[in-house]
Amino acid sequence: MDRIRLIGGNQLRGEIPISGAKNAALPLMIASLLTKEPLILENVPRLADVKQLERILENHGVDIAAHGRRAAPSHIDGQRMTFQAAEIVDTTAPYELVSTMRASFWVIGPLLARAHEARVSLPGGCAIGTRPVDLFLYGLKELGAEIDIDEGYVVARAPKGGLRGARISFPKVTVGATHVIMMAATLARGTTVIENAAMEPEITNVAECLVAMGARIDGIGTRTLTIEGVDELHGATHEVLPDRIETGTYAMAAAMAGGNVLLRNARAEHLQAALDVLGQSGVHVSQEDAGLRIQRNGNGLQAVHIETQPFPGFPTDLQAQFMALMTMSDGVSQIRETIFENRYMHVAELARFGADIKVEGQVATVVGVPELKGAQVMATDLRASVSLVIAGLAARGETMVNRIYHLDRGFERLEDKLSRCGAEIERVV
Ligand code: EPZ
Repeated sequence: MDRIRLIGGNQLRGEIPISGAKNAALPLMIASLLTKEPLILENVPRLADVKQLERILENHGVDIAAHGRRAAPSHIDGQRMTFQAAEIVDTTAPYELVSTMRASFWVIGPLLARAHEARVSLPGGCAIGTRPVDLFLYGLKELGAEIDIDEGYVVARAPKGGLRGARISFPKVTVGATHVIMMAATLARGTTVIENAAMEPEITNVAECLVAMGARIDGIGTRTLTIEGVDELHGATHEVLPDRIETGTYAMAAAMAGGNVLLRNARAEHLQAALDVLGQSGVHVSQEDAGLRIQRNGNGLQAVHIETQPFPGFPTDLQAQFMALMTMSDGVSQIRETIFENRYMHVAELARFGADIKVEGQVATVVGVPELKGAQVMATDLRASVSLVIAGLAARGETMVNRIYHLDRGFERLEDKLSRCGAEIERVV
């Protein structure tokens, strides 16, 4: 199994191109199920999760083409891909395909809306909490679907004539269920109102794509989405927005290692809460035309307290990386994880570098230490794995990150991007 080997201590200097966002690319690919015409997506990242979702969509009958090289300014540009679901040939998403990635469950929305039925295995994904699907089922039932759970599958049927618009008020903010209900409602009869909708930039990116496909959606970017159902959607061309979590991850890597890095294509407004926290810790952040510049020169890192929150708050997907950064702060940082109940799997691994972290319930207390020492560590989920890379960048000596398949699910050419900026990092196969 592949591993990542790195020697800490080098500052990062140069440019890191930010790829298209995984968490927008996945639902955008799923949106292709809503129309028989081709959906062309630009800036699709090359990731294991994208590949896995391609298999799932192909099983439903989607034809997928990745366009070849173009005379583009740089070889690092994302892929341009076409997805065409001329006919949905199978409305079952089987366990073997769905179990490794939670987002694949989201096909349930478009399948129900267009084919009026779906049989989708209950999802798997990163081990970061129980992650139930009750809010998806609540929303789909409000749209008129009949739902049974049968041998690990959710079996859903639309009423005669298809889904019908409804008022759906989520008791808590959920990204996945917002995507699914928004997609399903585009083809429902009448008006759907989603209250307490997630307003993550990826939701906005998907909503804009749906509008380009002919959907009628008001309130994009707010907590209330109003969707007027239409009879059918058509093809469109749409660009995946830059990955704000990848951006925040490299911002924290640069803060940890020190140096001066331009995160090309990154947009500050997608992660302002995290950038504010970096600023408070003493890191210099500035928006330039080409992207975000992150600088830290020699000065110590101030300890900052954070609490994870739905957008526009501090993202849970950057919590592990920020914790890695705080292990070397000049003080005591308190981190409260409010989104997932079990997202501290990285704590035991960070301790192997010599970090001082205690967890009590939702709160992790990180006492900064003057030095980390390289270690053998193991990645347990996507964002946890990259927090170990961040720790390794500043640790004395060699770090070996084992079991890195999680990293490949969500970070494109991580070792390449970091080594081009001066990090001593390589993949060992
Ligand atoms: C999305 O997951 C992201 N995944 C996650 O990123 C991210 O951590 C999460 O949103 C929060 O921002 C993708 O976009 C593919 P939720 P999702 O529904 O949609 C509870 C990564 O590393 N809940 O917003 O699964 C749930 O248990 C991944 O890229 C219910 O209780 O998250 C959690 O506590 C990891 N019932 C909270 O809501 C439900 O039916 C928020 O989850 C659904 C969710």
